[in-house]
Amino acid sequence: MNPQVDKSVMTTSVILISGLVLLAVVLFMVAALVGVVGNVAPDDNSRKQAAVLERIKPVARVSFEQPKPAVAVKLSGVEVYNKVCAACHAAGTLGAPKTGAKDQWEPRFAQGLDTLVTHAVSGIRAMPAKGGDPSLTEANIKDSIVYMLGETGIKTDAAPAAEAPK
Ligand code: HEC
Repeated sequence: MNPQVDKSVMTTSVILISGLVLLAVVLFMVAALVGVVGNVAPDDNSRKQAAVLERIKPVARVSFEQPKPAVAVKLSGVEVYNKVCAACHAAGTLGAPKTGAKDQWEPRFAQGLDTLVTHAVSGIRAMPAKGGDPSLTEANIKDSIVYMLGETGIKTDAAPAAEAPK
């Protein structure tokens, strides 16, 4: 054999072996890949179910939660008096019994505090209901009457009415 032929055989063998190694690597990689794919958990439809539930969920929900009540502003008797009642009762406007005029208030007080409250809440003759301020509560009215009577020197043994949000 001449060295020329030897060399070409060598080259052919190297190419062949390289090809085989390459093929082995490729086969190995394919096998590994198939193994990885096979290891994925079988689809039990749970993901699909979750997606469907998400898609068909109701647009709105009815809530039975109680809305928080607006914070009622607690006014004391004197505050209500100054804000509303004084407009007429300070000077006796429209014939209102004047604050401090005991002779005007005594016959009214003789009716009883509850009656005065009822009259002031619903209005009596020239006296508008709640003095014209419907935002006042019955407790506000009672507190301000007690205040007016106190300023007049008439003692009521009524404690300031508890604030009831109405
Ligand atoms: C627009 C004027 C006016 C305002 C404001 C007003 N009053 Fe009077 N009030 C009157 C007049 C007038 C009378 C007398 C009515 C009558 O007996 O003819 C009266 C009478 C009363 C009486 C006596 C009722 C009775 O049975 O004899 C009470 C109590 C009273 N007012 C409370 C209040 C209170 C409390 C306020 C504030 C929250 C208030 N008033 C605001 C005009 C007013």
